[in-house]
Amino acid sequence: MKLSFLSPKGLLYGFRRKAAGQTIQPGDPGLPTHVAIIMDGNGRWARKRNFPRTAGHEAGLQTARVITQECARLGIKYLTLYAFSTENWKRPKQEVSFLMNLFYQSLQQVTSELHDEDVRIRFIGNTDQLPPKLTALLKQVEAQTAQNQRLTLNLAINYGGRSEIVGAVRKMVQKALEERLEPETITEEQFARFLLTTGQPDPDLLIRTSGEQRISNFMLWQTAYTELYFTSTLWPDFSPAEFRAALAAYKTRSRRFGGIKEG
Ligand code: IPE
Ligand code: IPE
Ligand code: MG
Repeated sequence: MKLSFLSPKGLLYGFRRKAAGQTIQPGDPGLPTHVAIIMDGNGRWARKRNFPRTAGHEAGLQTARVITQECARLGIKYLTLYAFSTENWKRPKQEVSFLMNLFYQSLQQVTSELHDEDVRIRFIGNTDQLPPKLTALLKQVEAQTAQNQRLTLNLAINYGGRSEIVGAVRKMVQKALEERLEPETITEEQFARFLLTTGQPDPDLLIRTSGEQRISNFMLWQTAYTELYFTSTLWPDFSPAEFRAALAAYKTRSRRFGGIKEG
């Protein structure tokens, strides 16, 4: 009889699975409601393999698909992916246009699949400053998936946290000019309604891949009390198992929101 599960490889596999968040099951009450991810490291992943940086973005896109599926499977209700920042325009023109094309083509390819899986797709960022063809597609994708319930996928494209806050102030000032707004009536809750994430809960967990430990202008308002998880794994290598490991780490955190833990 061959006891293959007792082979060194089998045992190692078993341990790895356990370590990688085997305890995380769909519907686990300890799961975060909203996960936000700074998908970083595509360029370094490609360079390590002597590929052009663009190959890293293609590989990163596959990871985004797989992690979205995993969120849907686990029952996580909101996933926000940082795909392009307001600062990313500083990159070489060729890389920027490659990314714009990649967003366009991949959305054309995956929208119907995500729609069938009851995923609502939303975009946050200055999307009206993107190539007009892409802006139009984003509107169409949002409209097509607007009624879906299982998972809300926010894609942050041309997104910047400061720009979002300034945009909210602009909308508020406009409102004040039109209908008289008393300064004392402005509360944190009211202000948040002018943000691009209006109506959504703040992220519970923020993951950043690639070893960088900074926010890079992502969700500055919304992450006030978010748990942070940094991993040196480059985004194209980030797997569902590592995602579950991040969720397992999140489960062990004691969130106090400035208060004290009872008992
Ligand atoms: C993240 O990967 C994707 C985008 C910002 C579009 P990078 O392209 O920043 O990869 P690195 O950080 O250069 O490795
Ligand atoms: C943050 O990554 C933006 C996205 C992941 C879209 P960057 O690679 O642009 O951030 P910095 O330049 O390292 O801070
Ligand atoms: Mg980067």
